Amino acid sequence: MELVFATGNSNKVAEIQQLVPPIVRLLGLKDINCIEEIPETQPTIEGNASQKAFYVYEKYGHNCFADDTGLEVEALDGRPGVYSARYAGEEKNAGLNMDKILAELNGISNRKARFKTVVSLVIDGKERQFEGLVNGVILHEKRGGKGFGYDPIFQPDGHTRSFAEMGLEEKNKISHRALAVNKLVEYLKQLH
Ligand code: IMP
Repeated sequence: MELVFATGNSNKVAEIQQLVPPIVRLLGLKDINCIEEIPETQPTIEGNASQKAFYVYEKYGHNCFADDTGLEVEALDGRPGVYSARYAGEEKNAGLNMDKILAELNGISNRKARFKTVVSLVIDGKERQFEGLVNGVILHEKRGGKGFGYDPIFQPDGHTRSFAEMGLEEKNKISHRALAVNKLVEYLKQLH
């Protein structure tokens, strides 16, 4: 069975190919000559994951899965959420995005936040979603130089270091994305 992972990053495809049953052959967007930007215009993380997977299924006729991730801050009513990439502007600058959150939380004691990844899988036109959640807190300043996005200001519950202070291997064991992808992999295994 061929399955498209809606990403332009072939490293990500190779990484997940290692986890899925060998009968599932993963393809990236380049493999199906999809080079345009896939629309992500929905107001929710679930909606965007779904939109991307159905776009590939309908336009290219391939079974597909797509992921979408956001950081939800409790005291900000769940923002930045679906707008995580461009919270401080269209330039998608991670430093400015973090500065905006730190400024908005200035003086606010509720620092609770969570990362949410939703994977949407579309097989023969039928959708299933898999969710990965990591609860944590927004720190008072950026800490650590690893990772990307909001990693320097997010500390997962039960840990004393930010995501950006952890190695990739350690973060990948507990991350929202890993949790969602593991659920997808378990589902694919029981199909075969
Ligand atoms: P995407 O849906 O994976 O493209 O993620 C959207 C945005 O959420 C990214 O541009 C980052 O700002 C943020 N983000 C997603 N995953 C992570 C993560 O693991 N750590 C920190 N920020 C993340």
